[in-house]
Amino acid sequence: MGHKIRKAVFPVAGLGTRFLPATKAMPKEMLTVVDKPVIQYALEEARAAGIEDFIFVTGRNKTALEDHFDYSYELQRTLEERGKLEALEAIKRWLPKPGQVASIRQQLPLGLGHAVLCAKNLIGNEPFAVILPDDLVLSKTPCMQQLVEVHEETGGNVVAVEDVPREDTKKYGILDVSSDDGRLATVKGLVEKPAPAEAPSTLSIIGRYILTPSIFGHLETTGKGAGGEIQLTDGMVKLLGHEPFHGLRFEGARYDCGDKIGFLEANIAFGLARSDVASELRRIIAALA
Ligand code: UTP
Repeated sequence: MGHKIRKAVFPVAGLGTRFLPATKAMPKEMLTVVDKPVIQYALEEARAAGIEDFIFVTGRNKTALEDHFDYSYELQRTLEERGKLEALEAIKRWLPKPGQVASIRQQLPLGLGHAVLCAKNLIGNEPFAVILPDDLVLSKTPCMQQLVEVHEETGGNVVAVEDVPREDTKKYGILDVSSDDGRLATVKGLVEKPAPAEAPSTLSIIGRYILTPSIFGHLETTGKGAGGEIQLTDGMVKLLGHEPFHGLRFEGARYDCGDKIGFLEANIAFGLARSDVASELRRIIAALA
């Protein structure tokens, strides 16, 4: 039923103020979890879901992101000359093919909704994925793949959701659902960062979305919302009632790398999931605890 998802938007124009001083001259998406920048996890997750076009919505100070996915002549040449062929092959394996990465500037950080709108001309008239690299998901099936599978059945819009403690609803976009089978919920309303007493549920949206191109027209007419920013949630509200809109309780654990504690936790969790570092890391944690 759903159209094939070929393109993913990575909004990476935020200033990362919660992560200063790390993010003063370096984009937060280049922070590494174990040995890989968070943006690379995001791109690999998109690729695992069959996505072939990667669109970065960037701002100033973000050239390191583009460089990371570019051919690195000196490095690759040096690895070759020194016979470090395994490292060279590893880089070549994950480097996107020519033409697969595009980047576009969000000239002012006017909000996540505005960042997605900046990708309008590069997306055209097809449903697409949005991945917020801050949210890392450790799962058996990559999170975006799970959304793509739902989209194939339901069409329309699909967001990844998780239950949060009620006192935390004020930090997230929250669903109002008309039906819920424990895995998939049909959405009838969305509220950005509601106070716990006013939250219609405790199902919060994480940074994984499949959206139809109708979102662009709605974002164009969406004014500033919470925090004075053009909110993606406010644009998505306008899709409700016109198109299918589902929330998927994804399988996996999500870590918010836009925040210090979430980032530290992600390093531990991803480290423990890696056979090359897990046992040593476990020993270190036990010794420090
Ligand atoms: P955040 O709410 O984490 O904001 O944005 P931020 O600016 O990145 O970080 P803090 O709060 O100052 O520490 C959520 C996502 O939306 C993108 C960010 O890059 C991040 O992926 N974003 C946000 C934009 O691309 N443009 C914006 O104007 C705002």
